[in-house]
Amino acid sequence: MGQTPRSESCLVLAIETSCDETAVAVVDGGRRILSSVVASQLDLHRQFGGVVPELASRKHVELLLPVLDQALREADLRLADIDLVAATRGPGLVGALLVGLTAAKALALALDRPFVGVNHLEGHLYANFLQSAGEKEDAPILPLVCLIASGGHTELVYMRAHGDLELLGQTRDDAAGEAFDKVARELGLGYPGGPAISRLARQGDPEALAFPRAYLEAGSLDFSFSGLKTHAVRLLTARRQGRLTFTDADFCAGFQEAIVTVLVDKTLAAVQKTGVQQVLLAGGVVANWRLRQEFQRRTQQAGLRLHAPAPWLCTDNAAMIAAAAYYAYHSGQRSSLALDADPSLVVGVR
Ligand code: KG4
Ligand code: ZN
Repeated sequence: MGQTPRSESCLVLAIETSCDETAVAVVDGGRRILSSVVASQLDLHRQFGGVVPELASRKHVELLLPVLDQALREADLRLADIDLVAATRGPGLVGALLVGLTAAKALALALDRPFVGVNHLEGHLYANFLQSAGEKEDAPILPLVCLIASGGHTELVYMRAHGDLELLGQTRDDAAGEAFDKVARELGLGYPGGPAISRLARQGDPEALAFPRAYLEAGSLDFSFSGLKTHAVRLLTARRQGRLTFTDADFCAGFQEAIVTVLVDKTLAAVQKTGVQQVLLAGGVVANWRLRQEFQRRTQQAGLRLHAPAPWLCTDNAAMIAAAAYYAYHSGQRSSLALDADPSLVVGVR
């Protein structure tokens, strides 16, 4: 146990509809992506400054079959070739989850293939097992610590073996991505805010403005970003009222740096606590260039192995769900066709 199963041919078709991306992928042997189609609903939700759950569900219904067709076409496969069907069962928006989950269960039933329901957060972690840079890329070694930082979650996970995950810490208020998104909205940068802030931050001086870093009580591996967000909003109000002057670039660089240093420090504290050698990064926020740069520097300094998915595999996609399903299946998991969506599923529960 504890080691990654040898990759054997097993064609997994996975569906991901937990939020505002309608995604279908086919992955072979848990690692080789044959197709990964992601239809973003961003343009639909952007005008509302965030995801509107009811609109998301309806759009998933509309997009799912064309996306499924495209994924099979790109993989040059027919439905009958698929060995295992998977879908995200939570966490996420319940109506949105139900669209993909129901479709996957119906496919499994019609094709008479096994079905595996996947925890979306585990999916983000398993994006690290996909080969994005070619056949030679090594799979992460277990045990490991993974930082999952997305729009809805900021969690530190200790993974001893496939199927043996423990939550070490999580955010007590806003997720890191949520903080990026809310502050970007205050700046008028639109949704989602992370990419826009990180772009502006490239030209800024991270030390021009002071931003608070919340470490909480000694030894805590939890996060809190609401104080930082409030401070950022206060700075912007002061600028609007003419009490302070600073550039957007300096503001973004300082804000980004405050999030990055806390994420890196707490992840390395989790590594120290568990004694692992391997660090994984996962979730939309780890597409951030500065976060990746700082993790590289600090893990190298500490002699640790670092793995992060290619940026296009950090944000929501179905290939990561297929990878998670493959490893779950090969460690004995089968889901019933009565499996329900669980909008508040936590790490470690399938
Ligand atoms: O994992 P994800 O695609 O969806 C969820 O499951 O939430 O993450 C989306 C989040 C958004 O909050 C977005 O602002 C953030 O990831 N994000 C970034 C960057 N790219 C996406 N945050 C900081 N820097 C980025 N480059
Ligand atoms: Zn996600």
